[in-house]
Amino acid sequence: MTTNRTFTMIKPDAVANGHIGAILDHIVKAGFTIKAMKLTALTEKTAGEFYAVHKERPFYKDLVGFMSSGPIVAAILEKDNAVEDFRKVIGATDPKKADAGTIRQLFADSIEANAVHGSDSDENAQIEGNFFFSAFERV
Ligand code: TYD
Repeated sequence: MTTNRTFTMIKPDAVANGHIGAILDHIVKAGFTIKAMKLTALTEKTAGEFYAVHKERPFYKDLVGFMSSGPIVAAILEKDNAVEDFRKVIGATDPKKADAGTIRQLFADSIEANAVHGSDSDENAQIEGNFFFSAFERV
């Protein structure tokens, strides 16, 4: 099923560097509507669960440590073709390879501390949104 929603996190590097406002501004100007949002923090356990698909990858342990190192902003975003369009707005995983003007090119520090998450499929957008938000926390 195709949905018009995606899930994002502003990661600990971007929160610590004071980029919450600039990133939200960028997202809204790109045509997305915020349908749910919260400032929260992952623990090693919840970060490990969120990234369980990468469990066997060499970067998994460091990624879990980084993602539980400080506050994050979680949000559900709405727009036509949300998942694909948001991946274009955030840019490549490695900010050195991200196109000019993308969020990662503008705000990310490294491939690990890469400022934002964006779901990679409609199915994962739904799973990830449900991981952070109850039905009462979204509009
Ligand atoms: P991935 O799903 O491949 O990238 P994306 O976030 O663009 O969908 O990887 C998930 C996260 O894992 C990525 O945002 C940052 C981290 N990561 C590393 O730390 N090192 C790596 O070499 C890769 C590929 C990812």
